[in-house]
Amino acid sequence: MSYRTHENCRACSWGPPQGPGGIKSASTDDHLESVLNLGVMPLPNAFRRNGESCPGHYPIDLVVCPRCTLGQLSVVVDPLVLYDQYPYVTSSSQTMRDHFDNLWLALNFEQKIGSVVEIGSNDGLCLEYFKSLGAETVIGIDPAQNLNKVARKRGINSLCSLFDRQSAEMARAAMPPIDLVLARHVFCHVDNWQEFINNIGVLCSKDTLVCIEVPYAQDMIDSCEWDTVYAEHTSYLTVKAIQYLLDGSALKLQGIARFPVHGGVIGLLLRRRDSDKPRSGTVQQFLEGEHCAMADWKRFAAKAWSQISELRDLVRTLRQQGKTVVGYGASAKSTVWANACRFTKKDIAFITDNTVAKQYTKSPGTDIPIVDEGALTRELPEYAICFAWNYFSEIYEKEKIFRDKGGRWIVPTPKVRVV
Ligand code: TMP
Repeated sequence: MSYRTHENCRACSWGPPQGPGGIKSASTDDHLESVLNLGVMPLPNAFRRNGESCPGHYPIDLVVCPRCTLGQLSVVVDPLVLYDQYPYVTSSSQTMRDHFDNLWLALNFEQKIGSVVEIGSNDGLCLEYFKSLGAETVIGIDPAQNLNKVARKRGINSLCSLFDRQSAEMARAAMPPIDLVLARHVFCHVDNWQEFINNIGVLCSKDTLVCIEVPYAQDMIDSCEWDTVYAEHTSYLTVKAIQYLLDGSALKLQGIARFPVHGGVIGLLLRRRDSDKPRSGTVQQFLEGEHCAMADWKRFAAKAWSQISELRDLVRTLRQQGKTVVGYGASAKSTVWANACRFTKKDIAFITDNTVAKQYTKSPGTDIPIVDEGALTRELPEYAICFAWNYFSEIYEKEKIFRDKGGRWIVPTPKVRVV
C-alpha cells in the first residue's frame, strides 16, 4: 500500500496519544475531526495515455485540528508515487508572471536578494524569472526527473531530489551565502514539517530570508475552494497553526505577505530565531482576522456539497437539452470536480489544456479526454466549464471567439455561475 494514515495534527501534534508499542488511546475526545470526506479519489494529476496504468485511488478525508485549526488529509500518499514523474508545470501565464513580479518586489522590500535556493523548483520557471529580475546565483531542488531536465535546459542549476538533509547540504555547499530560501506550494505537500523546517535551517545564515508560499485556508473557506482538497495537498494552513508549529523551532515567523493568485495565497516570511529583524505587525493582523474554527470548516464543507450538486444538476440539465458541455483547464481541480460530480465523457465531451504533457491523455478516474486548447474554437461547444477558475479573467479575454460565437462559461468556484 503506498499510503499511510496520519492521526496526529502535523502542526501541534494534537491527536490520540501513542502508547508503548504504538498502541493508541481509546479516548474519543482528542481526535482530529472529519469535515469533508470525498471518498476515494484517483491522484488528480495522474493523466494517462491509452494502455498506461493508473497509480490507484486513495481516501480523501479532510480532518481538522480542534486546537490549532489546521486542516489536513487523514492519509499521506508516498511522495515518490506522487512526484517521480510529475505533469504539473508552473503556468507561464500572464497571471503568474504578474505574481512573480509582485513576489520579487515584496521580497526585495524585505532585503536585497542576490542568491536564491528554491525548494520544489518545478521546471525552473520562477528561478528563470527571478534571474531576469536581478538574482545572480540560483539553484533549484525538485524530485521530478522530467521537470529537472526542463529546468536544466533553461539554464537553471537543479538538484533532482526530494528536499532532505543531504540535498540541503549540497545546495548550501554550492552557493554563496543564501539571501532567500523560497518554497512555493510545496510546504502543504510535505508530511514531516519538523524535518522540513530543520532542513531549511541548514540553508540559513542569520541574514537569510525564508519565504514559504502556501494557499491560505481562510481564503479557501471564504471562497469555498473545496476543489483544492486532493492527495498532494496534505495540509490546509492557518496562521494559528504555523504559530504552533514554529514554537520552539530554529525559525520564527517574522511577517506575512498576501497575494491574490490561485484563489488567495500567503507568503510566510521566516528567519532564524537569532535574526535581529523585528516581527512585523502583519502576523498579529492575520491572527486577529482569522476565522477558521471547527464551525467555520463545517460551514465550508456544507457549501462544498451544495456546489457539487449544483454543477452536476446544471450539466445534466444542459445535456438533456442537447447542449454540448466541455471543460477548460485540466487542472488537478478538474479531476476533483469530475470525480465528485461523477461526470463521464457523456457529460463533458473533453477538457482542453495548454500543457503539452497533458494533451491526448485521459482525466484520472473519469476517462474524459484531454485535448489541446484550440479544440474550444474548433468545436465551439455551447458551454465550457472553466476548471482553471484561478485564471478566469485571463482566459475570458483570451477566448474571445468562443464568446463571440455564443459560447457561455460556467465558472464553478466560488459558486457555480454561468457567464
Ligand atoms: P492550476 O490552476 O493548477 O495552475 O492549473 C491550471 C491548468 O489550466 C493547467 O493545466 C494549465 C491550464 N491552462 C490552460 O489550459 N489555459 C490557460 O490559459 C491557463 C491560464 C491555464
